[in-house]
Amino acid sequence: MSTTTLVFDETVRNRFSPRSFLPTPLTEEQIYQVLSDAQYSPSNCNTQPWHVHIASGKAKDTLGQAMIQKDMEGLAKPDFSFDYADFYGDYFTRSQEQARMYYEALGVAREDSTKRHEAYLRNFRFFGAPHAAFLFMPSFGDNVRVASDIGMYAQTFLLSLAARGYAGIPQTLLGFHADTVREILGVSEQYQLLFGISFGYADPNAPTHHVRMKRIPVNESVTFHD
Ligand SMILES: Cc1cc2nc3c(=O)[nH]c(=O)nc-3n(C[C@H](O)[C@H](O)[C@H](O)COP(=O)(O)O)c2cc1C
Repeated sequence: MSTTTLVFDETVRNRFSPRSFLPTPLTEEQIYQVLSDAQYSPSNCNTQPWHVHIASGKAKDTLGQAMIQKDMEGLAKPDFSFDYADFYGDYFTRSQEQARMYYEALGVAREDSTKRHEAYLRNFRFFGAPHAAFLFMPSFGDNVRVASDIGMYAQTFLLSLAARGYAGIPQTLLGFHADTVREILGVSEQYQLLFGISFGYADPNAPTHHVRMKRIPVNESVTFHD
């Protein structure tokens, strides 16, 4: 298994969100290396507010089953709101394109609601990944800054996975049943669940493996001032 690390520009461009993983687990040491990298993330006033729970094996299976059960009962209760309907304009168009490419790669037709639901539920099966990290945070003020710290941590975690030949996908949906996850993992209500990351080895033979989301040009995101 890969122990060499990629150079930075390769790492950034090689990273992608796989939606199918091999069952092969990482070793404890491999996971620890990634966690050690992520620990170097910047945070507001160096508060380091990330509280991370890694679920593997039985714990991960129990979580997956419980989240699917809750979801079937229509009991989504994330700590932070999420609604596709909030997207508008270009943001909405990009989100639609992302969904279209995913379902197309899976061969699921737009009107096939049963298969689309099945594809959605794959989130709670961690896309077959052997591990999932649940990213919890304390609550400070309106939580915007602490959430951005968790984002910093997540990106370092994802880039470390990519550099080392592993892969991960951040998932808002893993935060949809926050109470259930807290209960199963024994996490205090003091900590809120922002999202989760399924990780392991990407499955190179999966139909979704070659899906790569495009990026808009730099000049559409950045305004220069002299
Ligand atoms: C905070 C966050 C939450 C996400 N939640 C989900 C999710 O619940 N399910 C999913 O399939 N993808 C999820 N994604 C993955 C995005 O769709 C993906 O990052 C985006 O389409 C860009 O593709 P790339 O990561 O392959 O470059 C999430 C990404 C981020 C950053």
